[in-house]
Amino acid sequence: MISFNTFFKKKNLHNRSLLKILDNIANGSKIINEVLLSGDPKNLKSENIKNIQNEDVQKLDVIANNVFLDYFKKNKEIQGVLSEENENIIQGNPFGKYIVAMDPLDGSSNISVNIPVGSIFSIYEKKDASISLCESDFLKKGKEQKCAVYVLYGTSTILIIALNDEVHGFTLNLKEDEYFLTFPNIKIPEEGNIFSINEGNIKSVDPEIFNYVESCKELDQNGKRTHTGRFIGSLVADFHRNMMKGGIFIYPKTSDKPTGQLRLIYECNPIALIAKFAGSKSSDGNIAILEKKPKSIHERTAFITGSNKMVDKLLSFYKNE
Ligand code: AHG
Ligand code: MN
Ligand code: MN
Repeated sequence: MISFNTFFKKKNLHNRSLLKILDNIANGSKIINEVLLSGDPKNLKSENIKNIQNEDVQKLDVIANNVFLDYFKKNKEIQGVLSEENENIIQGNPFGKYIVAMDPLDGSSNISVNIPVGSIFSIYEKKDASISLCESDFLKKGKEQKCAVYVLYGTSTILIIALNDEVHGFTLNLKEDEYFLTFPNIKIPEEGNIFSINEGNIKSVDPEIFNYVESCKELDQNGKRTHTGRFIGSLVADFHRNMMKGGIFIYPKTSDKPTGQLRLIYECNPIALIAKFAGSKSSDGNIAILEKKPKSIHERTAFITGSNKMVDKLLSFYKNE
């Protein structure tokens, strides 16, 4: 079995700075995994406060944020961090070569009901490490990301990494306390039959989205369904299932959330990079996610990603109008 660390040696990846960040993520995720498995119900509750985005903060949101921030603040390679849970960017080592954006705990409304959650990371090079950090360092197009990672705390804990045009998956072995390569060279199936959307929003979405979802519900000539609907409500888990099995994930603009629900920099961009390196694409309906230039650090966007043919079909509905 190839461990997380030996994998990068085999790949001839000698970028020690980046490897230190990946090591932080792997180690942090092991702590989150322990907290989740500890069975201590107090960790699964709400903090009864709202975050900067006016969302309920769960205890585990705070724990996960602190765990990863502790690692990142001690890492001399990191010049700054943007987190969903912090209003402002966090200064690291002024000479660090990288910056990291993260959603430390994705799907937190699912924690108390035992449904998979995740952690998402987007890593950029800090082009000129001698110029001091500012918000604009994070307002980069997603295509400039050096690396993207998510961890899915599910039936097992897995870490998915997109680097150098490839996507690889590692599973946490609890006995060895180590991640091992279990899903080399992941590619998203070109076609799929899973559609993932919160249908509670369906009456307030663009007609193109509405019509596409209707098309997923069409029956074949034998009267059997052609697609299956699945929506967990944890982006990482919904995307991961679709990446492995073939499907489309859609979180469109809605009347409640006219700019979409998901955050561009630390949710959509890293997932879009993983989708790209796994052979697929992502869009907001008009423009490719990785081409969007963020205007603010907590900006939201509509998000469509998954199997190429499904995404193309949905986008063709926009072009036909
Ligand atoms: P987070 O827990 O980090 O705030 O993210 C929740 C996100 C995402 O994981 C999920 O796809 C989406 O919110 C679910 O939103 P709805 O409850 O509106 O479906
Ligand atoms: Mn999230
Ligand atoms: Mn979150």
